[in-house]
Amino acid sequence: MILVTGGAGFIGSNFVQQWIGAESDPLLNLDKLTYAGNPENLSALKGNARHVFVRGDIGDRALVGRLLQEHKPRAIVNFAAESHVDRSIHGPADFVHTNVMGTFALLEEARAYWSALAQPQKDAFRFLHVSTDEVYGSLGPGDPPFTESTPYAPNSPYAASKAAADHLVRAYHHTYGFPGITTNCSNNYGPCQFPEKLIPLMILNGWRQKPLPVYGDGKNIRDWLYVGDHCAAVRLALAKGRPGETYNIGGHGEMTNLDAIKAICVLLDEARPNHAPHEQLISFVKDRPGHDRRYAMDARKIRSELGWKPQESFASGLRKTVEWYIDNMKWVENVTSGEYQRWIETNYAKRGDA
Ligand code: NAD
Ligand code: TYD
Repeated sequence: MILVTGGAGFIGSNFVQQWIGAESDPLLNLDKLTYAGNPENLSALKGNARHVFVRGDIGDRALVGRLLQEHKPRAIVNFAAESHVDRSIHGPADFVHTNVMGTFALLEEARAYWSALAQPQKDAFRFLHVSTDEVYGSLGPGDPPFTESTPYAPNSPYAASKAAADHLVRAYHHTYGFPGITTNCSNNYGPCQFPEKLIPLMILNGWRQKPLPVYGDGKNIRDWLYVGDHCAAVRLALAKGRPGETYNIGGHGEMTNLDAIKAICVLLDEARPNHAPHEQLISFVKDRPGHDRRYAMDARKIRSELGWKPQESFASGLRKTVEWYIDNMKWVENVTSGEYQRWIETNYAKRGDA
């Protein structure tokens, strides 16, 4: 059995499905079901006895301790987090609560459980913590990509909270010998991503003939990683990664936001030629405060040590993603009611045109 946290969110639910399809261990999924967690993401696993879902908070030590004793997992994979930079700007408290204090609580319970294991189980136990490239800060146009030894320089409350958690994982290995591994990945995209993030927001706004709100000049650069490739990398890091190490995971897909949005528009033009060109919906709006200019990942370590490389190009992954959203409008309708409308109002109403 492995314990996965945050397995009803975007990456977590893709990971859980990939795991159940590819691995033999059953999986215990602990998720608080915040606005970003959606049991519908796991509907394909309904009735599958190898997937056990528990609704709860990683910060609830009594619950986590009990689950560890009851299910005796051989590993923990921690996806649970508040994950959206813009939300962290509007309200950082939840980010400190879950990303820092929640990870701390999970680490404490995991350490107590691991310390009491018999030696063979203790040696085999792993705690894989999923983090982000944003902990490294922002790159200039000519800077080399982030490596695992780039100093941390988080710029948003979200990035700072993730950095704090990464430091705890590192310190638990250094101090207690706790077998933590951290993976830092670039921007994911793919099925089931909550449409507050760039790619699904642009697909859905374009589909609904609404403006495509580009922050600032649209020349900020992100490295796009298809979620299935990321999940494969996490499985590999769990199986073969060395405790105490960190691994960068990138998609070799660096591009400006404007180019990413234009690529989405081309696919929407194909799907709905009567509404072409979707590019005419692009609208420049007020920039995000403290907006990081560029992220880029040097993923040579995970490639050379563990043999991972992404299978999808941005073109192939984006096509799959656009098709998934078009084919899953019921899912979209369910997640974009209520709370989502309030968020769109909070984030975009005061931005206006840039
Ligand atoms: P998400 O926001 O879609 O999902 C987060 C999940 O965690 C949700 O299901 C939510 O209900 C759950 N959760 C939140 N607080 C919790 C708590 N206190 N206890 C238990 N569950 C809780 O996020 P995502 O995009 O799937 O990201 C997953 C992880 O990957 C996060 O740690 C994030 O920082 C990291 N990451 C994401 C990206 C990306 O592009 N999405 C990039 C780099 C790193
Ligand atoms: P996002 O998906 O929020 O990821 P992150 O901030 O973690 O990189 O945003 C990706 C990029 O897209 C980022 O540079 C901000 C930009 N962006 C927009 O231009 N408009 C939007 O409406 C959103 C949500 C993001």
